[in-house]
Amino acid sequence: MSSSINLKQIDHHFTAGKQRISLFRNLNIELFSGHSYAVVGPSGAGKSSLLLLMAGLERPVSGKVQFQNNGEQQLLKNLRQSSGFIFQQFHLLPELDALNNVALPLKLKGDKHALSIAELWLDKVGLSNRMYHKPQQLSGGEQQRVAIARAFVMKPEFIFADEPTGNLDEKTAQHIAQLMFDCCRQSGVGLVLVTHSMELAEQADTLLQLSQGKLAVKPRNKAAAMAGPLC
Ligand SMILES: Nc1ncnc2c1ncn2[C@@H]1O[C@H](COP(=O)(O)OP(=O)(O)O)[C@@H](O)[C@H]1O
Ligand SMILES: [Mg+2]
Repeated sequence: MSSSINLKQIDHHFTAGKQRISLFRNLNIELFSGHSYAVVGPSGAGKSSLLLLMAGLERPVSGKVQFQNNGEQQLLKNLRQSSGFIFQQFHLLPELDALNNVALPLKLKGDKHALSIAELWLDKVGLSNRMYHKPQQLSGGEQQRVAIARAFVMKPEFIFADEPTGNLDEKTAQHIAQLMFDCCRQSGVGLVLVTHSMELAEQADTLLQLSQGKLAVKPRNKAAAMAGPLC
């Protein structure tokens, strides 16, 4: 399957009281499944807001967000259902063990194989020996691995990761980023990664630099992006 998200002539602003916060002016970008993108830019530039628009979770003030799957135009509802999210704060449920945190989205959908699929993904992210640990019994890196597994169990077309390594030390951050890139590449999933780290950003196929409401698109060296082990 191949999917794309096309943002066309996006203008976006917020109004808070009398204040108007202008975010994007005539922003255009097309994202493809199977590719990785790193979004960089100063704090407050609108990176998190851009992810919400890309995933169809927010509507722009003007402009269009279009989702295509195998050449067919889809509803934005389908884009939301085809998107997985990974956040800086992990957002795991504290009372559930790793296995049930990962299985939860599948269980909510009524999938009878929820636990065995979750087990498979926990194994892929290297946590087969931590299935019955609750989040507080796991290190930050391990918790983020659980969140990665949870994002993948629903077979998304795109993964949106908002500063997923912001709470991790440098070495763990590198491992986690590598795992996300590898899992996306192996599954043909599109990855949009917001990061402050240029070192991580440079591993993406394309660099998206957000500044003053504009997005500068910089394709990167594909050969470098293909290196590294599969998950
Ligand atoms: N729902 C909202 N209502 C009003 N202002 C918002 C809202 N969400 C974000 N903002 C403002 O928009 C700007 C961009 O926010 P954000 O997208 O979180 O930036 P970044 O992720 O790059 O730090 C900030 O100034 C923030 O305060
Ligand atoms: Mg942000």
